Amino acid sequence: MIPDITIKGNNEGIIFSNQSISPFKEKTRHLAGNNKIIIVNAIVKTAVRNIMRFFFKVVVLFLFYVIIIVMRIDKLLCEMNIGSRSEVKNLLKKGQILVNGTKVVKPDTKVDEKTAVISYKNHDYQFKPFFYYMLNKPAGTVSATTDEKETTVIDLLKNSLASINENGLVGIPIHDIFPVGRLDKDTVGLLILTNDGQLAHNLLSPKKHVPKKYYVELDSFLTEENIYLLENGVDIGEKELTGKANIEKISETTCYITISEGKFHQVKRMFGTVGLHVNYLKRLSMGNLVLDSNLKEGEIRPLTQEEVNHLC
Ligand code: URA
Repeated sequence: MIPDITIKGNNEGIIFSNQSISPFKEKTRHLAGNNKIIIVNAIVKTAVRNIMRFFFKVVVLFLFYVIIIVMRIDKLLCEMNIGSRSEVKNLLKKGQILVNGTKVVKPDTKVDEKTAVISYKNHDYQFKPFFYYMLNKPAGTVSATTDEKETTVIDLLKNSLASINENGLVGIPIHDIFPVGRLDKDTVGLLILTNDGQLAHNLLSPKKHVPKKYYVELDSFLTEENIYLLENGVDIGEKELTGKANIEKISETTCYITISEGKFHQVKRMFGTVGLHVNYLKRLSMGNLVLDSNLKEGEIRPLTQEEVNHLC
């Protein structure tokens, strides 16, 4: 911006000023007459400022590229479950890793994880940030990543992948995969396994109200009064009554129930408040994802891209 300055008469010229603009600004006057003035330091200042802004953006984009987009090869190989940090360093040293067809030996070599094709033991792998699986959880397994005594749903995944993939679990970030929420040890049915934390949060957050549908077998008769109470909220010992639920009666002792909350043992506790015991519980759907009827208990399959897109 041209600073305020008083110039009288018809003038044309340049003011070469190496002062900052503010001294001019302190005395606001009028430009009288037909004047063409260039305040050099103001223009230079603006130009310098624009150039600096440009360079700042370039540096930020470069850092973003280096830090976020490109990754050290040893880190990438670990994330792809090719080995531990020391194992992959060894593989690199022995020349067993090719990146885009070229042998890479230095562990700190930067590679673009989005495009790099990693060749290892005559197989090509590409990094994929997220993995999604549908498990038809069998009774007797626990919804955890590790357990000293019990078989976990992640053990099932490991066994299943190891038998499907020729090269075992290579390429799959198995250590990062976890079950989305929990089903009780004796509950069966739909369980999503993923390493996508944001998706898990979206499905589990109480604020998102993602509906979950269960098939229930009871030890006694389900009455209309029971249904009314369960659908409109019951006291399971939490701060508030349970939220709205939907019950579709199938027979005197079986029904579907859809809830949008996920408190510990919620379905069993809800039926408990009306004096009914849940003998069998199976989750059929979560959000838009419906349990694949071809999937037997204990079986796992990857979600299709369409299923992932419509999850929530
Ligand atoms: N409600 C339960 O009581 N148990 C489950 O496993 C899931 C929902």
